[in-house]
Amino acid sequence: MICIDTEKRSFTIHTNTTTYQMGLARNNILVHRYYGARVDDADFGYLVLPLVLGFSGIPGDLFPDQRYSEDALPLEYSTFGLGDYRESCLDCEYENGSRGASLRYVSHTVRTGLTVPTGLPGVYADADTGETLEILLRDSTTGLEVVLEYGVVEKYDTIVRSARICNRTGEKVILHRALSCCLDFSVPDDRDTVIFYGKHTQERTMQRTPLSHGKFRIDSTRGASSHQYNPFWMVCDRNADETHGSCWGLSFVYSGNFVAQAELDQLSQTRLVMGIHPQGFRWTLEDGEEFQTPQVILTHSAAGFDALSNNLHHLIREHLMRGPWRFRRPPVLVNNWEATYFNFDEEKLFAIAQQARDIGIEMLVMDDGWFGIRNNDWTGLGDWFVNETKLKGGLKPLVERIAGLGLKFGIWFEPEMISEDSDLFRAHPDWALTIPGRVPVRSRKQLVLDMSRADVRDYLFDAMAKILHSADISYVKWDMNRHLSDVWSAMLPSDRQGEVYHRYVLGVYDLLERVLTEFPDLLLEGCSGGGGRFDAGMLYYSPQIWCSDNTDAVSRLSIQLGTSFGYPIKSMGSHVSVCPNHGTGRTTPLKTRGDVAMMGTFGYELDLCKLSEDEKTEMRRQIEQYKQFSDLICTGDFHRLALPFGDGRCAAWMFVSPDKREALLTCVWLHVECDLHQLVLKLRGLDPDKQYYIDLKKYSLSGRTLMTAGLPIRSFKAEYPSLVYHLKAADTI
Ligand code: GLA
Repeated sequence: MICIDTEKRSFTIHTNTTTYQMGLARNNILVHRYYGARVDDADFGYLVLPLVLGFSGIPGDLFPDQRYSEDALPLEYSTFGLGDYRESCLDCEYENGSRGASLRYVSHTVRTGLTVPTGLPGVYADADTGETLEILLRDSTTGLEVVLEYGVVEKYDTIVRSARICNRTGEKVILHRALSCCLDFSVPDDRDTVIFYGKHTQERTMQRTPLSHGKFRIDSTRGASSHQYNPFWMVCDRNADETHGSCWGLSFVYSGNFVAQAELDQLSQTRLVMGIHPQGFRWTLEDGEEFQTPQVILTHSAAGFDALSNNLHHLIREHLMRGPWRFRRPPVLVNNWEATYFNFDEEKLFAIAQQARDIGIEMLVMDDGWFGIRNNDWTGLGDWFVNETKLKGGLKPLVERIAGLGLKFGIWFEPEMISEDSDLFRAHPDWALTIPGRVPVRSRKQLVLDMSRADVRDYLFDAMAKILHSADISYVKWDMNRHLSDVWSAMLPSDRQGEVYHRYVLGVYDLLERVLTEFPDLLLEGCSGGGGRFDAGMLYYSPQIWCSDNTDAVSRLSIQLGTSFGYPIKSMGSHVSVCPNHGTGRTTPLKTRGDVAMMGTFGYELDLCKLSEDEKTEMRRQIEQYKQFSDLICTGDFHRLALPFGDGRCAAWMFVSPDKREALLTCVWLHVECDLHQLVLKLRGLDPDKQYYIDLKKYSLSGRTLMTAGLPIRSFKAEYPSLVYHLKAADTI
């Protein structure tokens, strides 16, 4: 609900459990007043004290009034150059070389629904579920305008922020930075930041750090959101945990360079900013043009991380993901990568498919190596035509044979990349991102295509569409196996090279959109060396993303539980692979591998032709189990009960159905000790008044008891054993 009080000069946004308030200070400076737990009769004007410190200046339009300085005020959108020395969102340069914008409120509008910005991914909502407030700010000296947008999805405690910079100056303006969102906390408090860092094969490890004076920054200048820092982060009260305390989440709906920064200023006020990384960014806005920043999803919970995560899970599933697959259970697949790597032909794939049919798998995914000349990672990228030496007879007969077994077919592409040893590179060397006269950086022996170019995208669309039309293909894994370097486009003049990083991302989105428009039923799985581009931007196009190239069940516990803080379980690509694991060398029980893969899309990634009968029997059981519980997994609420970080003895999580009649609890023991151990887990999300029958225990307890006193879980003598408990409310048994 958006409430505007002209007398108090305030804009208040209420969601289910939160309140966000801004107001107008002197001369229409738009200040931030409050963001936290819902307060209905909110008027937080008293929290924003006019204050001027030594060495803090007075804005030109306020002088000689000595009460206000933009260096101390909590602002809704901060600018560089005119007296606010904290981190800025906007840094613009005019034709005479001067910089700065004194943004003042001009007008506002409210409309129903949330609309997705053109050319970018975004949160959408219809008139019944959302509304949008737009506030127009202007710099009166130059006429530069900024429109701040606040899209509200009340049900999920979400405010979606972005900014539109409009050049109405009559001259050219250069943007050196244009971030999406500034969030100032004027009331000092002890807070922590929670980030999800990592590397290739170990993504989204949680790290919690107390905020102190200085700037705490996570970012990516890699051209993709990256394995290293995920563009979802939180700030929380020092005492916050899964079920208590205030926490704020910020999720960037963007897949390229980003910065997220928390700063504790001289007054111990906290400023958070998030947006496109200014490094390497320089955007020319001609008179009359606009620059739309990507969205930041803001959410707050006064009841800990659990509620924050579940709100985001719902929001992403219901208001960001699109297409038929956002609610549908994905087919149980087998992917041939860890089974064969590049070494396969049509007979090998068919043999895997036969085994797959036998154990109940529903789709075969043919990974890297089927195209061009591609027997290793030195060659072939860009040549998106079938390698008929490997797939004799071509794609169609293979897909038909596999369909004859009752299996769907999926295929791997890495559209954004090019091998120097490829027909495409020989024909179009300038299509790769390289700098004239400089030997380029290679990564995984490949170069990156200049996705900012329309001709490159046209080629890729035609090549992909040809393959996808040539056979009945249900699924595409869209990979990106290196980061950007040598970022220079042959199509842009020298003073516009600072636009290439962003234009690259816009180009990727454009190609994704074209592919999905042509093939609306296609299930896309995003991937970037595993989870190197796991962000809300990609989830707008691909409802699932391969979580990590590390398929070890124990490593996956922290990767997937870390990912669950910001993203729905349904979005996490997760497979059972062979042991010893190819990446870690660790051996874990097949049951445990299955139970961990069930916290995700569920599938297999191993050579099914090498299985024992016992293994096949166990896999049949797993697939049945996954099918039985897929609704719970795809649409249920998710609760993290025990985290595997640090010296955690076990990892445990549960799903609860929306009607609270059913729940699934999984627990994996991490440490084996001589004596049996017992742990009592306090369950969450149940109906306190319902009696739940717990299958493995063979007894019933009330939801209240299970959530207050807990459920004892015993370890047993085995390596990494897992236990899955199914709970059913008495009236559903
Ligand atoms: C990336 C992916 C893998 C696999 C390989 C193929 O690393 O994450 O799953 O597809 O590429 O080259």
